[in-house]
Amino acid sequence: MRIIRTKDYEDMSKKAADLIASVILLKPNCVLGLATGSSPIGTYKNLVKKYKEGNLDFSQVKSVNLDEYKGLPRDNEQSYYYFMHDNLFSKVNINLDNTHLPNGMELDSNKACEEYDKVIASMNGVDMQLLGLGHDGHIGFNEPNSCFDKTTHCVKLTEMTIEANKRFFASIDDVPREAYTMGIGTIMAAKMVIMVVSGKDKAEILKKAFFGPVTPEVPASILQFHPNFVLVADEDALSLVK
Ligand code: GLP
Repeated sequence: MRIIRTKDYEDMSKKAADLIASVILLKPNCVLGLATGSSPIGTYKNLVKKYKEGNLDFSQVKSVNLDEYKGLPRDNEQSYYYFMHDNLFSKVNINLDNTHLPNGMELDSNKACEEYDKVIASMNGVDMQLLGLGHDGHIGFNEPNSCFDKTTHCVKLTEMTIEANKRFFASIDDVPREAYTMGIGTIMAAKMVIMVVSGKDKAEILKKAFFGPVTPEVPASILQFHPNFVLVADEDALSLVK
């Protein structure tokens, strides 16, 4: 595990975007595993900036997203499909046919998950997986569990996650209770994993995840075993780590 310590959210976003840009420069037809949430928004902004300045070309890039709420239509502003289009896909020259998210409108969970695993398998490996960190240690929507799930599955969101994500919805009742997420096995199979973490509210879980025991009760802790894991975190998020 390598840690890149940054001054603040802006600095974190810039450095994470530099790392992702280098993946694209080295392999123009790379497969990016992408994430949603507030943590990567600044990273996407910096990638868009690089594209607009003529320094980055997404024309051959392929992407697979980590997760999607079950039951939210694509045009719902809180769907991750909408998020990705709003923050990245509509602002760069990526071919939309090469972008993929789990199908939240497929209510048959087995079908939705099997289909998404087929899409991931057809990519022949994810070159870089971007992640944020949930307050309970979740990655994607892999919530604390008694085991590490390998492939795409349907999860019931924990109260903590519903509470944390209610800020994006009109009311807590509007937060979907279920989601489809890539499994931990798929995340761990990515050639490189970059996690962005910012803020004092993440300090405790960051310490637990990366300086405590590896356990499915803190799903992100498995990343300690990833051979090419880069944690890009700001001073606030690292404030409990010596
Ligand atoms: C959500 C997403 C995760 C994200 C996490 C943290 O539940 N499914 O992919 O990493 O929450 O979000 P944030 O970056 O807004 O703190």
